[in-house]
Order: sequence, then C-alpha cells, then structure tokens
Amino acid sequence: MVSKTDPKTPGRAASRRNFLKTGLLGGAAVAASAGLARADGDPLITEIQDWNRYLGDGVDAAPYGVPSEFEAQVVRRNVPWLTADPVSSINFTPLHELDGIITPNGLCFERHHGGVAIIDPTEHRLMINGLVDTPLVFTMEDLKRFPRENRVYFLECAANTGMEWKGAQLNGCQFTHGMVHCVVYTGVPLRYLLEEAGVKTAGKWLLAEGADAAAMSRSIPMEKALDDCLVAFKMNGEALRPEQGYPLRLCVPGWEGNMWVKWLRRLEVGDQPWAQREETSKYTDLLADGKARRHTFVMDVKSVITSPSPQAPVTHGKGPLVISGIAWSGSGTIKRVDVTIDGGRNWHEARIDGPSLPKALHRFYLDINWDGSEMLLQSRAIDDQGLVQPTKNELRAARGGNSIYHNNGIQTWHVNTDGVVENVEVS
Ligand code: MTE
Ligand code: CO
Repeated sequence: MVSKTDPKTPGRAASRRNFLKTGLLGGAAVAASAGLARADGDPLITEIQDWNRYLGDGVDAAPYGVPSEFEAQVVRRNVPWLTADPVSSINFTPLHELDGIITPNGLCFERHHGGVAIIDPTEHRLMINGLVDTPLVFTMEDLKRFPRENRVYFLECAANTGMEWKGAQLNGCQFTHGMVHCVVYTGVPLRYLLEEAGVKTAGKWLLAEGADAAAMSRSIPMEKALDDCLVAFKMNGEALRPEQGYPLRLCVPGWEGNMWVKWLRRLEVGDQPWAQREETSKYTDLLADGKARRHTFVMDVKSVITSPSPQAPVTHGKGPLVISGIAWSGSGTIKRVDVTIDGGRNWHEARIDGPSLPKALHRFYLDINWDGSEMLLQSRAIDDQGLVQPTKNELRAARGGNSIYHNNGIQTWHVNTDGVVENVEVS
C-alpha cells in the first residue's frame, strides 16, 4: 500500500534531480480486459451489507444535495504561508480528484483581494459611464431581459503555477495548477449592454470595477469587450456562488483570471487603459533586462497530468493504469496532447475525451500497462493555432528568472516503484 501525501501540509518537493537514465516502460499497451476483476469469496459480495438491509433517508433529507460523506477529502485547500491573510488570498481547485471538464461550483478555486462581498441581488446595480451616448444603470432584473448565452470557459489566474518558476516547489497539482476552473456560464453578451449605452468613437478601452471592498478594477480593450465577453449571473445552471462574484461577474474568455471582475458594478468607457494596480505593479512580468511585460492578457497553451500526481499516487501496483489530465488554451481549442512516461524520451498521443470547446478545459487520457518501474510523467499540449506548450527551460530562456505570472511550462511528476508521486523537474 502507498500512503497518501498529507494534503493539508503540502511539503516542498524533492530538489532538482536527473532521472533521465532510469529504466522505464516501453510502448503503452491499452489493457481494457486485463483480468482486473476478482471472483473469489469476497465478503462484500457473498454477505448482505447494512446498506442492503436497512432503509435509507427519504427524499428531502438534503433539500440542497451535498457530496457523499466518503468524498470529504475533495475540497479546496489553501497554502497558509503563501499569503499574509485569508482576506486577500487564494485557495486551489482539487484537480487531482476531478474528471471530465466541468468544475463543480463548490470546488472552484477562490481568489479575493478584499474578501467575499455579500450582496443582495435586489440592491445590486451595474453602471455604464464614460465615453457613451447614454450613461445607464441596470438592475439584475433589467439584465435578465437581454438575450442570453451559455458558454463553457476556463478561468485561470495568471499566477497559477507561479511558485514553480525557479524549480519544483509544491507537492500536488492542486497547489501547482489549481488556480483554474471551468464551468458553463449563463450571461448577457457585453456588447448588447455597450450597444444600449452607445459607445462613442473615441471609446477604445473599458474599465471593469468590482463592488467588493477591494473595488478591484482592470482595463479591457474595447475589441475584446465587443467580441466574446459575457456579463454572467449563472454558473453550471445555478446562481453564481458568493465566492465567484454573486450576483454578477464579467467573463473575459481565454484571458487572465484577474480581468474577470467579480461583483461587477461599473463599466467605464475610456480612450486609453487606466494603469490600475492590477495592471502595473501586479500582473506584469519583470524580464531579465529590467523591462516589464504588461497587458499579457491571453492565457497560454498549457496542460498538467492530474492523476497520477503527488496527491493521487498509484495504489494498485503494476498493470493497467489510467493516466489522466487537463489541457487548455486561451487562444482556442486543444488539438493534441502528448504524454511521456520517461521524461520526454518517447511521446505518446493522448486520447482527448469529451467536448472540445474553445477556451475551455479539455480532458485527456493515456491508458498504459505499467510495468512497475519508475516513471517521469509529463504532458505537452498543442492548440488549434499550432502553439506548443514549452518546457520550463524554454520559458526561462525567453523570460528570465524573475517572472511569476504566465508559467505554462511542462510539469514533471516522478512516480517511484511503490507508486508514490513527487513534483520534480527535468527540463
Ligand atoms: N474581482 C474582484 N472584484 N475582486 C477580486 O479580488 N480577483 C481576481 C478576479 N476577479 C478578484 C476579482 C482574480 S486575481 C482572479 S484569478 C479571479 O477573479 C478568480 O476568480 P474566482 O475566485 O472565481 O476563482
Ligand atoms: Co488571479
């Protein structure tokens, strides 16, 4: 048996190692019927169990359903030493426990700069002002009378994987990659609201502002605002969760999570960007030559293996093993994901299963027959624009060592012969 890494205390991963010489698996054979089932006298099948003998709860025991008690470990987690106070902090989606492409509402990571605003929807207003013909104020009821759309989008914080720039750091994909979620949003295309107000010719930028204590605000180019932005009030069919901006948030598909202003209360039309805190001292990347990249809106093509991973070790020994992960790109759909089990010496095309939607998570699988030897697992995504996920060294060569944001480098997991998984770096 393999013990699980204690998820509450993510330790530091082992230091950089060179595993390139280890003997690993050859061709990955799919084993759909590999004699996995047992037919010997298992009391769980030969004896009647309590759940078979006694009546269970009737309907309405939980008017709003909750997960099984046996799934109690499937929760968001934070890393207390990362931030000074939970009011301006982050927690992480438990990617290693999820499958498919949709994140359940209660598991979407949270990032707040001034805590969660609690807003009565009847008292919420959205104002459009600035370079418009008619400044407008909408109630939630007004907004729900515009034609609406349903779209599946990922939201990734630009700081996702930021702790990993200098080397392997956090032991679990929840912590290295868990600042991403993907839900179906219901909302009104932003262009309908802007058309209603009438954007003046000089109106080239939009300032989106939140109603939270941080009044977080970001400049968004008008072109993007008129393209695919949504003013959303529902996620996965139900009202937004308070943590996700109830009653109203902006969706800026494929672009950095910071721009997806929650508790959206104001949109100001202007002729140039505002240079707010979140687009100057934050969400910019200091390059090696001392200059900083800014307005790095699009989230780059990226992927990660979610299982096996440090919080999801291999507990069943050698034989059939499902390797699974997620891939996404802010530029479109994912065309291909390659997976290696030997640190990049041999690559195998993974199977993408489920919907392939632009600017949404994609789920991939590689079904192998594990021979029980050490593995170095990596995945590499390629999007429909032909953009290829880089190695970490390629990223560092391009951007130096000072960056935090936009780390889409290839992640490596080391699996030892006991199935224990660790965060390592080989390239
Ligand atoms: N909007 C407001 N009003 N206040 C915030 O603190 N955080 C931003 C963005 N929108 C934030 C906000 C950041 S940095 C990110 S990554 C996303 O919201 C996180 O969205 P989530 O909490 O739904 O995951
Ligand atoms: Co963010």
